[in-house]
Amino acid sequence: MSPATKSASKSAPKSVPKKAAAQSPQPKATTPPADGIHPGSLLSITQLSLEEVSNILALAERLAGEPLSKHATLLENRKLALLFYESSTRTRTSFELAAKSLGAMTTLVSDKSSSIEKGESLKDTGLTLRALGAECIILRHNASGSPYLLAKHTGLPVLNAGDGMHEHPSQALLDLRTILSRLGKKQAVTETTLDGITVCITGDILHSRVARSNALLLPRLGAKVILCGPQQLLPPEAVDLSPGITLERDFDKALQQSQVAMMLRIQKERLAGMQIDLADYQKQYQLNEDRYFKHAPNAVVMHPGPMIRGLEITADIADGPSSAIEEQVRNGLAIRMALLARALNGGAA
Ligand code: NCD
Repeated sequence: MSPATKSASKSAPKSVPKKAAAQSPQPKATTPPADGIHPGSLLSITQLSLEEVSNILALAERLAGEPLSKHATLLENRKLALLFYESSTRTRTSFELAAKSLGAMTTLVSDKSSSIEKGESLKDTGLTLRALGAECIILRHNASGSPYLLAKHTGLPVLNAGDGMHEHPSQALLDLRTILSRLGKKQAVTETTLDGITVCITGDILHSRVARSNALLLPRLGAKVILCGPQQLLPPEAVDLSPGITLERDFDKALQQSQVAMMLRIQKERLAGMQIDLADYQKQYQLNEDRYFKHAPNAVVMHPGPMIRGLEITADIADGPSSAIEEQVRNGLAIRMALLARALNGGAA
């Protein structure tokens, strides 16, 4: 890890749920970014009030619904840097296409082909990008908390595109847009919008920033969130993440109560020596046709990707009519356009 990121804790599987629980607010509260952080930043989903969430969703809805020509110059000549220390397909491409469809210039800096490989710190990389004219940085990093560090040192709006095992706020927003549209709900959200809705998030919860950001957001709209998975991938402390969360080890029971089934990949790259019996995991936690039609025949199926077909989800379910997986990806583009407009234009579009 670079010197500048030492203070940001690198993936620490055992302590994360407890730490996150200790830091997590009550579900209706929000945590505004600390002083010195640009207000256009999105570092954690908890920094957004429900009004701000609604504004982002409304802007995404508008941008997605209008012809490209209507917003093609919204961020004309603005410079954005995509700074990626971890692999990404959906998040990176959608941020990049979102920026380009608003007329912005983008540059990609990845840890594989830049001075990061030579040991340059996150701070120095950020300052370099700023000196080159970057007005906003989209950061994916394996250290939890690194977006805060970058935002603090550069003063630029920083969008967290996934930090270690901590958060993935733009994913939670695109998942919310998907859930609302699949359930026929308005995009203007309140504390009761998801009353009576249960979302089960199943799989490798321990390592999932997607699970964490969703679990911190959805209960604030009235949803019940069931976290489901084996002990190794779902420690009991996860229940403390936010009120409105329950744990269920039995996937069939979780499905029986759910209107939305969000599946997660096992993050092999973060297992750190942990041994998972994949045949057993598949037997107990795979979303397949038998299980789906028996326990939750109407549930909306979601997955943030990348999917490991045949492990946590079968192809017939992933490609079936209940799957919202491609819609999630499309919604990523709309949400990220809105987040870029918010970061660089104060949300005006
Ligand atoms: C996830 C991520 O990187 O956090 N994917 C995504 O951004 N859509 C989930 C994963 O890697 O399994």
